Amino acid sequence: MESPVRKYLHQLFNDTTAMDGGDLADYIPELAKADPEVFSIALTTIDGRTYSVGDDEREFTIQSISKPFAYASALTDRGLEAISAKVGVEPTGEAFNELSLEKGTNRPKNPMINAGAITIHSMLAEPDSSLEDRANHTVEFFSRLAGRKLEMDESVFRSELETADRNFALAHMLRNLGVFEEHAHQVVAGYVAQCAIKVNVRDLAVMGATLANRGMHPFTGERVASRDVARQVLAVMVSAGMYDASGTWFSDVGIPAKSGVSGGILGVLPGQVGIGVFSPRLDPKGNSVRGVNVFNKLSQDMGLHLL
Ligand code: DON
Repeated sequence: MESPVRKYLHQLFNDTTAMDGGDLADYIPELAKADPEVFSIALTTIDGRTYSVGDDEREFTIQSISKPFAYASALTDRGLEAISAKVGVEPTGEAFNELSLEKGTNRPKNPMINAGAITIHSMLAEPDSSLEDRANHTVEFFSRLAGRKLEMDESVFRSELETADRNFALAHMLRNLGVFEEHAHQVVAGYVAQCAIKVNVRDLAVMGATLANRGMHPFTGERVASRDVARQVLAVMVSAGMYDASGTWFSDVGIPAKSGVSGGILGVLPGQVGIGVFSPRLDPKGNSVRGVNVFNKLSQDMGLHLL
């Protein structure tokens, strides 16, 4: 017999399939080749049960949804004080690819914008790590969060690197201002590799459930991050996870979240559930159109708004 959760998910999927619009991201040429019709939703509870509908095994590159997890990795390795000295926690009100530095300190305002995420990437693994070491460290940490071995999409990695002028420019500015010392090209290449890690919607839900479960993996039982790290990551997802739409998102949906340009959205309800949605067409702010509609409806139907 179909469980009530699965039944509800099918209903939600059917109700929101037509609530689509917007365009594929095309500034990374390989992303413009995505099938725009693909749609999937997954939920993982903190006791380790996953429910999903749609094309739930289709892999896509994690893109900016990597940012909260890379932040968790850097916080785990270096501690809050060292990371906070380099990257702030304030919303920017600007697009994700603006420099958005805090006056006085020159810190990128938060780890969810590209300038902040590039800086965070420079602090992954041991100081002075090579590009390969940092990329491997990232894949390994993300695999522990997902509970299965994840891999990088080579063609998306190459495609983005060919067209990453803006990220190179941001990295050169950051290095020039002394925010980090590593080689700017190497850091951007590592950050682009981080964004090219492949996941499916079930992985997103499981990775989210690990944060929801205060850093403890819901089915491997591994403590992947501390309680404090999980809380810090969720706090920044609230203030900056949906970029300059973060205020509207939190007032309407009320769930800490993070979006990516390949069309994924991750949501995390502390103590309850991780949520993943994937549908590649984006609104002008870079958030999946169906994804935003799914979260709005889910939040209303189930009363999931945190406030
Ligand atoms: O750095 C970039 O531009 C991409 N790798 C990731 C951007 C992204 O996903 C922004 N999300 N909405």
